[in-house]
Amino acid sequence: MTDIKELLLSRIRDVADYPEPGVMFKDITPLLADPAAFTALTDALAELTVRHGATKIVGLEARGFILGAPAAVRAGVGFIPVRKAGKLPGATLSQAYDLEYGSAEIEVHAEDLVVGDRVMVIDDVLATGGTAEASLQLIRRAGADVAGVVVLMELAFLAGRQRLEPALGGAPLEAL
Ligand code: PRP
Repeated sequence: MTDIKELLLSRIRDVADYPEPGVMFKDITPLLADPAAFTALTDALAELTVRHGATKIVGLEARGFILGAPAAVRAGVGFIPVRKAGKLPGATLSQAYDLEYGSAEIEVHAEDLVVGDRVMVIDDVLATGGTAEASLQLIRRAGADVAGVVVLMELAFLAGRQRLEPALGGAPLEAL
């Protein structure tokens, strides 16, 4: 295992039966509280953003904000929040997606993504891939290009990567 992977993994806490019985929650707050680990993560996210030629970072609410915003500053690109429905004050594009039970909706300010943008999506976890897939649909509907998706953790047993593949359209999905 590489040094950074070991460092990041050592700062992620498994919390059993949260938020409901049978779920193992991956708590990143110890990582955020450790400046060496948080800096290493920020540097890795920024490096991938620059390497893939992204001109903007989209962060997915809420932990994607915490990871994506410092990476955007470090990479020298703009940060665009993709929020749960009803949280953004301006004109929005919205995208609904299916959950195991029911559905959810995310939104972005329509003026924040334009033709010519190359967007890197950042989040903490890729689980079923529904949230990331909806964000890619939003980005493409705005006329922007997808530079890739980077997550801290990929829960491979939920097959999010497979779900995401068509929406990625050949762009990379990286899990640190
Ligand atoms: C979690 C996580 C991702 C998403 C992944 O966020 O931070 O954004 O779920 O799940 P998926 O791949 O199955 O779509 P959550 O919806 O819990 O929101 P929060 O960060 O605001 O708590």
